[in-house]
Amino acid sequence: MTLRITALILLLNLGLSCKPANARTWITADSIYLFSYAQPQNSGRTGLQFAWSRDAQHWKTIGDQSGFVRSDYGRWGAQKKMITPWLIQGPDMSWHCVWQLNSEEPVFALVSSKDLLYWGPQSYPKVAATGTCLHPVIRYDVSQKTYLITYTDKNRHYYQVQTTDFKHYTAAKPVSQDAYHFAQVEVHLPTGNFKGQLHKVSWKQAAALIAANDLNEYHSARDRESAATDPARFAGLKTIDASLTFNPDQTKPISNLLIGAFFEDLNYAADGGLYGELIQNRNFEYRLSDKEGRDTTWNAMHSWQLTGQGTQLKLDSVEPIHVNNPHYVLLTTQEPGAKLSNNGYDGIPLIKNAAYDLSLFVKSVDPGKHYFKVRLVNPDGTVLATTNLNTSSTHWKKLEVKLIPNADAKAARLELEPITKGKLALDMVSLFPENTFHHRKNGLRADIASAVADLHPKFLRFPGGCLVHGDGLGNIYRWKNTIGPLESRRPDRNLWGYHQSMGLGYFEYFQFCEDIGAQPVPVIAAGVPCQNSATGGGGQQGGIPIDQMPAYIQDILDLIEYANGDKNSTWGKKRAEAGHPAPFNLKYIGIGNEDLISDVFEIRFSMIYAALKKAHPEITVIGTVGPNSDGTDYTEGWRIADSLQVPMVDEHYYKSPGWFIYNQDFYDKYDRTHSKVYLGEYAAHLPGKPVNVETALSEALYLTSIERNGDIVHMASYAPLLAREGYTDWNPNLIYFNGQQVHLTTGYQVQKLFGQNSGYRYTPGQLQLSNEAEKVRVRVGFSMVRDTVSGDQILKLINLLPVAIDLTTDLSPWIKPNSNVSATKTIFTGAPTDKKALPESKDVTIEQKPVMKLPPYSFTLIRFNGGM
Ligand code: AHR
Repeated sequence: MTLRITALILLLNLGLSCKPANARTWITADSIYLFSYAQPQNSGRTGLQFAWSRDAQHWKTIGDQSGFVRSDYGRWGAQKKMITPWLIQGPDMSWHCVWQLNSEEPVFALVSSKDLLYWGPQSYPKVAATGTCLHPVIRYDVSQKTYLITYTDKNRHYYQVQTTDFKHYTAAKPVSQDAYHFAQVEVHLPTGNFKGQLHKVSWKQAAALIAANDLNEYHSARDRESAATDPARFAGLKTIDASLTFNPDQTKPISNLLIGAFFEDLNYAADGGLYGELIQNRNFEYRLSDKEGRDTTWNAMHSWQLTGQGTQLKLDSVEPIHVNNPHYVLLTTQEPGAKLSNNGYDGIPLIKNAAYDLSLFVKSVDPGKHYFKVRLVNPDGTVLATTNLNTSSTHWKKLEVKLIPNADAKAARLELEPITKGKLALDMVSLFPENTFHHRKNGLRADIASAVADLHPKFLRFPGGCLVHGDGLGNIYRWKNTIGPLESRRPDRNLWGYHQSMGLGYFEYFQFCEDIGAQPVPVIAAGVPCQNSATGGGGQQGGIPIDQMPAYIQDILDLIEYANGDKNSTWGKKRAEAGHPAPFNLKYIGIGNEDLISDVFEIRFSMIYAALKKAHPEITVIGTVGPNSDGTDYTEGWRIADSLQVPMVDEHYYKSPGWFIYNQDFYDKYDRTHSKVYLGEYAAHLPGKPVNVETALSEALYLTSIERNGDIVHMASYAPLLAREGYTDWNPNLIYFNGQQVHLTTGYQVQKLFGQNSGYRYTPGQLQLSNEAEKVRVRVGFSMVRDTVSGDQILKLINLLPVAIDLTTDLSPWIKPNSNVSATKTIFTGAPTDKKALPESKDVTIEQKPVMKLPPYSFTLIRFNGGM
């Protein structure tokens, strides 16, 4: 059959199966053919694609791999399929697309668009309790004024559901095969043969798709620009002359919380990281489900070992210390010799003569006194510290003792050796350095906490991230499980594939914020789990049942009472019992984390927001607008924020250095009458995910634009903060560490320079360059802020070019003529791929119009006080 005949026959099919209700489309004089399809090779993961043709024979694709809408159903990555998308235009000229999601569930996907460019939220109607929903087809029935969605199943039975509003559907009813018009056309595209649908659209419509794709490709090419290709891009570029002047009359106040930090428990950031506990799995609560059964060694005995003869170990749960901590070990000893040991996280690092607090819960299961030895031991068997303990209590009793090692150790272990015959139960075996950050009990690892403190973060967002909304409804982070005595806290699976002991809980987070002078910014799930969590198998987001939402909201109100309430209030009392009678002065609370902005989300977020606004107008609620700087979640999130007048929204975007370079005007364009912005997560990502001078300088460049927009951007935090080497699920991070060392990245240096040199008033200025080419201009940035506390002016200058800049700056608004002013000059520079560059500071004097050289690929910071 010739192509022409094929096309004609299939066009006929098209008329039968998806005839547009409004015939205008078909008679437009300048109409062309539009082919809609998805790529079966990748199960449609590149989304709904288009090609166009004047004659249905010669086709041009509109973007080879870039769909105009992609499926967002199911778990991360592979499940997000778009199988046989079926697209029609409804009577109101809106487009509606349905597609098959998988071959297991009775669910299909639906999404609508007015212009084929912007696609609204997707919905995933469930058509039956069981069965499958294969190759759904949508059409509009003019007589019934109803959309009919017809599909088949594995047994080739046919069913139909109907809807008028895409929110409510009739129950699926069996129909005959005649009612099902699944007639795809096969078209020969330059990229191969594809099956899909033919449509006729106006040339204007097709041109808009082509233009959108061209713009997208143009932006992508700019985003891909990196220092690796600078030699070609800037071949022959000479040193640039520049002059910088300021407009002091346009000085404006900016946020005093601009640069902060975001802590999420991923990459072992909490247990095995910031949390000072040295014993791994101290309470025998690791579970196979923490890793979804993928690792059989990840069980209640993980990190524990019984060696030697004379003692049998049983994992028990008959009479636990607390119901939230059900497992413990029962040691039955006939004669001494066996040792129960724990080697912490890659061994326990110890410092000679430092004190370590050992504690454990013990119980004599049979009468009499039970003696046992406790030792810290090197891998070669050398004993570093030892003590004898005993108990005759037949109830759980906490024993505490200090151990002081007689030598340094990189990777010691803790040993417990029962001496007495009989049965001894053990749980909550814990070892902390006495020297925790600020010497807090149950405290934080001092070197990591100090590195965070050195950033001078004005706020700390915690405890996530995706960790907060969790992997499914049962995994939503519940703050109440994380406070109170350690043995009563309820551990949980960490959706990043490990375990949360909750030893680092809400009290410790608040305490840490106070210790480092950071405003606490807790984030609470918006009543929905992660959009990728696929609740109940292959499903989608889901939400806390509406009848349970009041209790969920009460938990959030209780959190505010816990943080700020009087010490005699129900929850304030618990804070006081934990050792902090004074309030923590909570002012911000994030609701949601880059969630899928669906009806399910909107209903729950609106309920929480209304309750918080009513009960706590003094608290600034931070909404969420998805995981990107554009797209459906971003647009819909902002729509909700606008309609509810949410005071602030949390934006997230991880982008290439090129994106940060070319989008420095991102917030210049923001309407100042809308919600303020918390840029809660951002980082420059290069292929291979390094943190180097290039990524750090592109972040620095962007941060100068954040300072410029500090009137609308209230807070910003790089993400993620911490990663334990060898346990890193996500790169890049700001701080890497192992058991003994902390490694600070180039990105860290930039954050620290901004954090330690924040200002609260911004003065705009103009930079004149001797070379005004766009690619040159966008790689040079500056900002001038005043620290109103010290009265210092802080000038930040970024040069992301491979050549130096000779800069003359007019500082006459702040420095008198003919005077020399003391200043600190800091330069951070290196080759773009350098991962170890460090800032170097020196004291200098500057005059009113200093001339300075900005080295290639550099960040120069001048801090001075001209007394004006
Ligand atoms: O920062 C790492 C992750 O990135 C966060 O958990 C999530 O919010 C984002 O997708």
